[in-house]
Amino acid sequence: MEDFQGTTVAITGSGQGIGRAMALRLAERGANLIISDINEDNASAVADEIRSAGGTAASLRADVTQADDCETMVKTAVHAFGRLDAMVCNAGIVQVKPFLDITAADWDAMFAVNVKGAFLTMQAAARQMLTQEPMGESRPKGKIISMASIAGRYAAGPMAPIIPHYRASKASIISMTHSASFTFAPHITVNAICPGLVETDMWKTIDAQWSAVEGWETGTAWKTRTSAVPLGRPQNSSDVVGLAEYLLSPASDYMTGQSINIDGGLTMG
Ligand SMILES: NC(=O)c1ccc[n+]([C@@H]2O[C@H](COP(=O)([O-])OP(=O)(O)OC[C@H]3O[C@@H](n4cnc5c(N)ncnc54)[C@H](O)[C@@H]3O)[C@@H](O)[C@H]2O)c1
Repeated sequence: MEDFQGTTVAITGSGQGIGRAMALRLAERGANLIISDINEDNASAVADEIRSAGGTAASLRADVTQADDCETMVKTAVHAFGRLDAMVCNAGIVQVKPFLDITAADWDAMFAVNVKGAFLTMQAAARQMLTQEPMGESRPKGKIISMASIAGRYAAGPMAPIIPHYRASKASIISMTHSASFTFAPHITVNAICPGLVETDMWKTIDAQWSAVEGWETGTAWKTRTSAVPLGRPQNSSDVVGLAEYLLSPASDYMTGQSINIDGGLTMG
């Protein structure tokens, strides 16, 4: 399948995890990739992997908390490929800490990356996309995908007492997706993906920190939480990729402002 041939996609935080999996798949389908991450070595390794497999990619170090880095990321895409068709605001961090132990600095760090970072990335992408011709006949000028989480949707739940700042940051992304989709319609579609429990380094961090808080053996938090998934297994990064492919494709051109759960049935409705 080569149907993203000629489409340029930038993904923040794509040096590993979900972002990396998306980048590899989209490159396989012909897209030109901008791999950006605060970890330059990881970003460069993913771009090398894409090129070795015959794909097209450029990489750079970009810290999404810095407006200049977000602008540079977009300029890199335009310089290399002439335009930016899609931006995936994927970079994120997590921290597990009891509600009353979370400091103002913890809160600020979470919101700097997860909320301000996504905002600055969307701004930089939208500024470029609005100047472009549409992606094709009756198509938008560009597409933005943000990475929220089912954590931004839950009211109650076992993780409410230990990741309130992460949950609030992901609820903010859902809200920002609404604002951006309304602001940039009809030119740019903006949708959010809400994954569940994805087996990446982020969940290794959650498991280690949550297990430490509870005095459990390492691995217990992951096993307990994933045992509640109706589809009967934890999620892999590749389980998230198909939704990104859909959101980039013409099949979703009439969809904007949506936040879509993909979580094995953990949340319904
Ligand atoms: N893993 C899950 O269960 C899960 C569930 C729901 C949502 N998500 C979200 O999906 C996204 C990707 O998560 P993941 O599981 O692949 O995590 P991950 O920790 O494996 O990858 C996150 C990437 O973001 C990068 N990053 C961190 N701070 C950055 C910054 N300031 N600027 C640029 N890059 C930065 C990291 O270097 C890393 O490469 C995150 O937004 C996360 O909140 C993850």
